[in-house]
Amino acid sequence: MEFSIKRSSPEKQRSACAIVGVFETRRLTDAAQRLDQATDGYLSDLLKRGDMEGKLATTLMLSSVPGLSCERLLLVGLGKEKEFGDKAYRDAVRAAVKAVKATGAREAVLYLSDVPVKKRDAGWRAEQAVLVAMEVMYRFDHLKSSRDEPAPALARMLLAYDKVSDKADLEAAVARGVAIALGMNLARDLGNLPGNICTPTYLADQAQSLAKAHGLGLEVLDQDEMERLGMGSLLSVAKGSDQPPRFIVMKYNGARKERPIVLVGKGITFDSGGISLKPAAEMDEMKYDMCGAASVLGTMQAIAQLALPLNVIGIIPTCENLPNGRANKPGDIVTSMSGQTIEVLNTDAEGRLILCDALTYVERFEPAAVVDIATLTGACVIALGHVASGLLANKQSLAKELLDAGEVSGDRCWQMPLWDEYQELLKSNFADMANIGGRAGGTITAAAFLSRFAKKYDWAHLDIAGTAWKSGKEKGGTGRPVPLLVHFLAARAGK
Ligand code: BES
Ligand code: MN
Ligand code: ZN
Repeated sequence: MEFSIKRSSPEKQRSACAIVGVFETRRLTDAAQRLDQATDGYLSDLLKRGDMEGKLATTLMLSSVPGLSCERLLLVGLGKEKEFGDKAYRDAVRAAVKAVKATGAREAVLYLSDVPVKKRDAGWRAEQAVLVAMEVMYRFDHLKSSRDEPAPALARMLLAYDKVSDKADLEAAVARGVAIALGMNLARDLGNLPGNICTPTYLADQAQSLAKAHGLGLEVLDQDEMERLGMGSLLSVAKGSDQPPRFIVMKYNGARKERPIVLVGKGITFDSGGISLKPAAEMDEMKYDMCGAASVLGTMQAIAQLALPLNVIGIIPTCENLPNGRANKPGDIVTSMSGQTIEVLNTDAEGRLILCDALTYVERFEPAAVVDIATLTGACVIALGHVASGLLANKQSLAKELLDAGEVSGDRCWQMPLWDEYQELLKSNFADMANIGGRAGGTITAAAFLSRFAKKYDWAHLDIAGTAWKSGKEKGGTGRPVPLLVHFLAARAGK
């Protein structure tokens, strides 16, 4: 789908579909008012008859309205004008794009992007319109032998403004929206792919094509190289599977000598739990246990496309967590690359076992900051549901940057504490630490474990267990937290 910014008078604009808003109760937005005038009160008549109340995200599609140059006119309810904030705006745009998608219209002109949203500017509205539209248009049906629905006709959307004071700003916002959306699509695709297709080798191949397409540096370490580096913790997880593990290192160089920001994504391509086997119900969803890795790939693609002026290194430790005769057993003690020993009391707490070696590996880059992204704990889903990702950090200014990036991008995270008291829960009688801290505070003890390997730099951890995919009827990857990460990096780059 293509997007552009357009200065436009609704009454004159030709299009397959014009999209205008109506507030509750029956108050027309500026663009709608101009169309009403051009049609001698067609819209106000219709409102009087009670055909559109303006309730949030309701729609009414009109065809061939006399006096208008558009083939279709879509009225979209915006709800209460005083409450028109982030969520209402996104809900209204989503309803609008869904309604247009169901028609034969090949393009549409969106006037909603010109409706003021509390605390947000025109650039924010443009970027969010792009993100929401791309989310609605996403499909993943190439693994079905026949498609559920024909491909929609909608291919182009104009974001219309009555006045465009700074076109370059708006165009930059659209470009950022498109880059983020394409990064999210990549992350969604990889997440949705099943474990028998999206293996560690497959992820490495994806990194390879990405590197080639965008001129990124790439190194893929195999098992022997990981052994030589002493990644005993990571390899202890990989051993239980017939799929060989990979350690992917991607480099984006957008600035001169600056210290890099490192992103580390958990890449468990299937998490059965290992010998501490998970229950069968919904175990299929553990194909999404590489969504941290997918978000790193999606983010690398987006920042390369935007040519952000900074240096970013993407790291993906990837393997499967399966039970076989060589698999980790409860009670096994492994030695991490840092030299610290770990008692594996639960083989299902495998994410931290692969991440800890990656966190040690990245010391060599003398990073300006390290952010790891992982579907790490079921406890995070209990704590925050599917709305916010969990955030823990050893540096408050870094946490603040991520909280802010979540806020502007609509891809929010929420901070939890990392106090020393939690460290005690990881005590082992036989090794330097255990890999679990018990049921209480599960997200925090997981982060507390990781923090022991992240002492040499500013570090933050995003637990995306509740946000990376949706379950149930709408099962599918979300592409989160690509928007958060791109905004964090863009802010660091001063963009
Ligand atoms: N990948 C899971 C976390 C997970 C579970 C994410 C369910 C989303 C939904 C992780 O590897 C895991 O199994 N964590 C365990 C840790 C426990 C054994 C301490 C968990 O959360 O149950
Ligand atoms: Mn697990
Ligand atoms: Zn896992």
